[in-house]
Amino acid sequence: RSATITLDLSAAGATVSPRIFGTFVEHMGRCVYEGIYEPTHSTADAAGFRGDVRDLVRGLGATIVRYPGGNFVSGYRWEDGVGPREQRPRRLDAAWHSTETNAVGLHELAAWAESVGLEVMEAVNLGTRGPAEAAQLLEYTNHPSGTALSDWRRTNGREAPFGIRVWCLGNEMDGPWQIGHKTADEYGRIAAETARLMRFIDPDVELVVAGSSNHEMPTFGTWERTVLTHTADLVDHISVHAYYEEKPGDTASFLASSVGLDAYLDEVAGIIDEVRAERGITRPIGISVDEWNVWNQTRWNEVDKPAVFTGDWPEAPRLIEDEYTALDAVVVGSLLISLISHADRVSMANLAQLVNVIAPIRCEPGGAAWRQPTYFPFADAAHHARGQVVVPEIEVHTLDTPRFGAVPAIASVATIDEDRLALFAVNRSLTDAATVSFTAPGRVISAHVLSGPDGNVRATNGPDAEPVAPREITVTSEGATHTLTLPPVSWACVRVE
Ligand code: AHR
Repeated sequence: RSATITLDLSAAGATVSPRIFGTFVEHMGRCVYEGIYEPTHSTADAAGFRGDVRDLVRGLGATIVRYPGGNFVSGYRWEDGVGPREQRPRRLDAAWHSTETNAVGLHELAAWAESVGLEVMEAVNLGTRGPAEAAQLLEYTNHPSGTALSDWRRTNGREAPFGIRVWCLGNEMDGPWQIGHKTADEYGRIAAETARLMRFIDPDVELVVAGSSNHEMPTFGTWERTVLTHTADLVDHISVHAYYEEKPGDTASFLASSVGLDAYLDEVAGIIDEVRAERGITRPIGISVDEWNVWNQTRWNEVDKPAVFTGDWPEAPRLIEDEYTALDAVVVGSLLISLISHADRVSMANLAQLVNVIAPIRCEPGGAAWRQPTYFPFADAAHHARGQVVVPEIEVHTLDTPRFGAVPAIASVATIDEDRLALFAVNRSLTDAATVSFTAPGRVISAHVLSGPDGNVRATNGPDAEPVAPREITVTSEGATHTLTLPPVSWACVRVE
């Protein structure tokens, strides 16, 4: 099988926001505790954060971290997580039926984020709380000094403001599982009032209003329209959450998940345009895909949920620690291609989550940390997708899928930054390799693929070995035309300079 990727560099479009390569740390399961933070681990620093995990986080190349939830934020009192640790309360976390010790809070997370080069994107609780508490948190984080809240921050060891710019106005408020779940009108009103008050306090904040929890929600579409009707003149982004899983017997549709994400993003972009036009709003509104990933939710319902919702309130239980395969990594790669291709509309995106909980990084208490297969396409894109996007024309055969119909066997996108080009591609075929050619001036400076070792797309990584990892691949260049062969179910990253 062969494919031709045509790149019209003169038509390079939007610039990729570095914030598209964001991540997410929620107080859920073992993401924080026994994840980034484990004071007794042999690599822990003086603040209790694991050094081995920190190194892997740095290698991932993520740019911004959403915190502290997720569903968790909808019952969270941020004040519990500041001040002397020994005075912090233990609380029930009703979102994940766990006990929250509050050993980690805003100060610790912000210092850790700074140490790994991540901007903090803070979510406020619009489930059990409202505009007043959100504004108090903002005053605590961003006001220089001279008020009770800003001086409390200084007393707690942080003299300079945190200067947090990006704020999520609650989380998934459309979902009946959400603490403080609301109708679109109820949420739209509270989000608008919170936004107004937050802007009075700090006009420079960027605000993300919560869109639907997923594309299949019965309220999808009307939720976005209603919420934006209340808030379009007050917010900078609307969120999209998108998780994909393999349904039994339908690997082909799973491999085509990004076709679903493309359509989801186009629909939300259309709604933004409609509401802006109706309301005569000139300020741009980006899409913040602030939770996305492969997540086997069937497993969540069958294994994690019964295990946790037993009446116990464990500390940092093992929740949704999906073990990712090479196949999952290729799907993650295709979702990245979709996000980059929509750089004109996607202003931010956060791979959910960072460590242990549906994460590219896993670790064991007192033991090793390792990279899941999904780590690698993310790191490629985060390190090399720079500058303007070139959405290619692709001549290739199609594959039949039950969910999305006929889809192209190859998905691809390129970015160009001065004379540095990066091409990302996936081969969605379960059976056929594809010989792919593209034309771009310059010399190939690196090329690698990720696929199942010995064709085993179900291969995984673990504490002792990472058999699913990128390997170099030969690219034949004739003049400016470069040709490589993508194995079945593979991800490729090629750089030309
Ligand atoms: O990332 C796991 C959970 O998925 C988040 O807490 C929630 O926002 C979403 O439903």
